[in-house]
Amino acid sequence: MIDIAALTLEEKASLLSGHDDWYTEAIDRLGLPAIEVGDGPHGLRKETGVDMVWVPATGFPTASAMGASWDRDLVRRVAVAIGEEARAEGVQVVLGPGVNMKRSPLCGRNFEYFSEDPLLSGELGSAYVKGVQSVGVGASLKHFAANNQEIERTRISVEADERTLREIYLAAFERVVKAADPWTVMCSYNRLHGVHASENRWLLTTILREEWGYDGVVVSDWNAVHHRVRALAAGLDLEMPGTAGKTDAEIVSAVRAGELDESVVDEAVRRVVRLVERAHPAAVPGFEVSPGARLTDSQLELLRADEHHALAREAAAGCVTLLRNEGGVLPLNPSARVAVIGAFAAHARIQGGGSSGVDPTRVDNALDFFEAAAYAPGYVHTPLNAYQDDLTAYLAAHDATFVDDGRGPARRSAALAEALRLAAAAERVAAGPLSAEARRLIDEAVLVAQDADVIVVFAGLPLAFEQEADDRTTLSLPADQLALLDRLASLRDRTGADLVVVLSNGAAITMDPWHDRVDAIVEAWLPGQAGAGAVADVLYGRVNPSGKVAETFPLALEDTPSYVTWTGERGTVLYGEGVFIGYRWYDALNRPVRYPFGHGLSYTTFDYTNLNIKITDSVRVTCTVTNTGPRHGREVVQLYIGDPDATVRRPVRELRAFEKLTLAPGESTPVTFDLTPRDFAYWDIAAGPHGAWRLEGGEFVIEIGASSRDIRLQTTITLPDDPTLPPIIPDEKLLELGGSRFTQGHR
Ligand code: BGC
Repeated sequence: MIDIAALTLEEKASLLSGHDDWYTEAIDRLGLPAIEVGDGPHGLRKETGVDMVWVPATGFPTASAMGASWDRDLVRRVAVAIGEEARAEGVQVVLGPGVNMKRSPLCGRNFEYFSEDPLLSGELGSAYVKGVQSVGVGASLKHFAANNQEIERTRISVEADERTLREIYLAAFERVVKAADPWTVMCSYNRLHGVHASENRWLLTTILREEWGYDGVVVSDWNAVHHRVRALAAGLDLEMPGTAGKTDAEIVSAVRAGELDESVVDEAVRRVVRLVERAHPAAVPGFEVSPGARLTDSQLELLRADEHHALAREAAAGCVTLLRNEGGVLPLNPSARVAVIGAFAAHARIQGGGSSGVDPTRVDNALDFFEAAAYAPGYVHTPLNAYQDDLTAYLAAHDATFVDDGRGPARRSAALAEALRLAAAAERVAAGPLSAEARRLIDEAVLVAQDADVIVVFAGLPLAFEQEADDRTTLSLPADQLALLDRLASLRDRTGADLVVVLSNGAAITMDPWHDRVDAIVEAWLPGQAGAGAVADVLYGRVNPSGKVAETFPLALEDTPSYVTWTGERGTVLYGEGVFIGYRWYDALNRPVRYPFGHGLSYTTFDYTNLNIKITDSVRVTCTVTNTGPRHGREVVQLYIGDPDATVRRPVRELRAFEKLTLAPGESTPVTFDLTPRDFAYWDIAAGPHGAWRLEGGEFVIEIGASSRDIRLQTTITLPDDPTLPPIIPDEKLLELGGSRFTQGHR
């Protein structure tokens, strides 16, 4: 480590902001290099040097797809591949994973997040960080914290009570920080209780460093710093992108004026220097992947092109979620006459819009896998991946303009966001009354499908519906696709053909009025560049689907937990539903949903037996799962805990453990889950001076299920109070004390 005492104050300050968009500052005099960071999380997004033109990289399924895999090892392997590509390109930190909660299915960036559940997000986020970092490249855990909407994202102030933050919005971050030690954590854009995350000492220092023991670098989201000195004092080490020295000078002046202790600067510098020094070997060609194994550049090239494409296909297949399969119409009979309908079959929707957009090395399209099938596009689709050529074409097609006002990178990305917003608006208008062209395409599709035994419709959301810096306003498919599905369902009723819908979307949608009129629904998510082959593998039964939704699919937007407070008003959004997000909400209300959290079908069946509980220091839960059907298959076994007797209102059930199994026909396997006191605990705001995790003694319900609404085994156990905590303060007593505790603490 270079000697920090050898640095001048100016040099130290310079290390605390970027050189530009993607590089940190070097100190040549002392041989301290710059490091390069690049976007993820679904593939490497490294700028070529030409603004908005990216180095080709493998586009993997987006996080919401990977969430549905429930597969830690798959996530880890994908992250290793992304790390390898980063290293080959000299990028030393990949900006991902994102583990924010899906407070509403409308959030435009949900495709970048794993789940509505903090345990699942935290486990998959940890696997991602471990994977990237295992090849000597750093990860950046983002966006810390409570960044759950895109509208007003840089200003909105989140008002959430501390228990909600601890149990829901911080929990995935906590798990990843403790289990995987990411080299960097990225703060979010929004405010929390009026204070920007970049200046929020409670978040960045009290919680992250003092409670969770984090000693890596806290980096800002791009342009999220509003007051450099306040941010530094709050715990924000590295400001990105650079500000051409402006904010470095502010730090220097504050120290000279005695407003900022130089030791704060030194601490941040120590962390940044350590990051640079631990990251630097990643840039050395031939970096050792594992002991004795060095890859040459050409080997890496090959890996990227072929092996990573194959991995992307395997990953996409592991994410595909079979939502509905009435009458077992899937897998398809190989001799069936198939009509493929839907423009997404010819131009795949592989990813969402914004900073995670990868320029893929190649893109598979479903039509390539259905060579003999009849095809019609059925609706208008302007292929757009979020890189410039397509964007320009797209905007031209939508009569919008890309404004490059030449004011530098930050402004340009703001212009891009604005352009995408305009494009989205245009797309929505296009989704209104059907044009003559839309009607013509539907008529043509019906004609093409009339002799088919099976109609496979590729439907889903246009890119403009799912992108950074914007949220959806509806959960429905676009109007032209609804009309298409209506006509094809009527055709099915007449001809007796099977109607199969393959969906490409990064987040939950509603399925009225077409749901009950189709035979099968295959959720392919935003599956990355090799998704089309994976879908074909599932449709023809070469792969047995094993994805399970990591987010509830509601029946209607009005049912969603945040409906009445989304997206806030007058600068503030109140998380009034508290800890009851996702399935926690629907279960509390006992409300029907379209597809519950954890749901996903298989071509085989599984039996759950032999539930056993052993209570020692921890609680050991075992059961046996058997593949009772005719095919190899994979099952996600889910363990939920409920605490009906608690003093505070708790969700009916909360996911506390899961395992993904692979079983041959007839095979049985034991599954063991070890639960810790924390798995039974809630955040008691009234425990001790600042609140604490409390295991409140009493009865707990343990459930093992194939989904949150398909519970197969259940039992009740009794646990004693946590002896390390003071007794529970009864509500009457709290009232006597006055309600102020509820708002104290981190403000
Ligand atoms: C996004 C981050 C991203 C960064 C760099 C920001 O706008 O919120 O997720 O890593 O840009 O592109």
